[in-house]
Amino acid sequence: MSEPRYPFVHLEVATDDVELATDRFWELGAAGVEERDESTMNGSSGPGRTLLVASFADEESAQSVAAEVGGEVQVIVGDAWRDAWKEHFQITPIGDRLLLRPSWREVPADAGERIVLTIDPGGAFGSGLHESTRLVLRVIEETVKGGEAILDVGCGSGILAVAALLLGAERAYGVDVEDNAVPTTLENAENNGVADRIGASTDDVRTVDGAWDLVLANIQAPILIDLAEPIMARVAPQGTLVLSGILAGQEDEVAAAFQPMTSVVTADGEWRAITLRHG
Ligand SMILES: C[S@@+](CC[C@H](N)C(=O)[O-])C[C@H]1O[C@@H](n2cnc3c(N)ncnc32)[C@H](O)[C@@H]1O
Repeated sequence: MSEPRYPFVHLEVATDDVELATDRFWELGAAGVEERDESTMNGSSGPGRTLLVASFADEESAQSVAAEVGGEVQVIVGDAWRDAWKEHFQITPIGDRLLLRPSWREVPADAGERIVLTIDPGGAFGSGLHESTRLVLRVIEETVKGGEAILDVGCGSGILAVAALLLGAERAYGVDVEDNAVPTTLENAENNGVADRIGASTDDVRTVDGAWDLVLANIQAPILIDLAEPIMARVAPQGTLVLSGILAGQEDEVAAAFQPMTSVVTADGEWRAITLRHG
């Protein structure tokens, strides 16, 4: 049997133009867009430049997009590359109380007082390496006191919901538009011993019932703005909402869409999270 082929379009842009160029890739049907710059393992050609690597379903689409944007097609053959990143994912403390452990690393002999959060993101987003995830994990640590009901919108690997359960929340429910987020969330819950307190589905957030003590949504700013009404409606009167996946400069527009909730912004590098409460 022949090896699978994965086509990518490579396009280097000025870092200031990343958002514009990324939006263009999404419009042209990219399945994913990765940013490589000086802060990543495989960088760009130099300061102020970012290499965008956009994946496409087939080589024909990749060729036509490359011709349109002036990029270059590279085809990776075989699956080995998919796991290469795992080598660089280490056991890492998060905030004051969590110790994030990739499932393929040994359980640390001495985690001290920290609660070990074991995660394998599989094909879903949510390894815990990304700033947008870490920002939310820190707010969860500060907010969860015990007994809360958690709604995780865009659950990906389930990392946020599972962390909240480990920290004492009573139950959690995750929703995502991606099918593979559901089994991945349930597997991660199982590996952390909290499977009996979590559910997950691809239901639209608009159809989820109830008022939740803590609602988490680490999605992109335009999607958060679009979903502002249904997300706010699911936050209990005394509850807390945490929004993430927001780039510096987007926080005012996102907070405005969630008025009259009051907001506090936290930052990690170029990423922002907003913690909101009913006025
Ligand atoms: C940045 S990832 C966050 C994953 C994980 N919660 C974390 O914090 O690491 C965003 C997730 O939102 C999902 N998503 C995108 N649009 C959505 C929508 N309209 N409703 C629910 N989930 C959505 C994506 O499939 C993806 O899994």
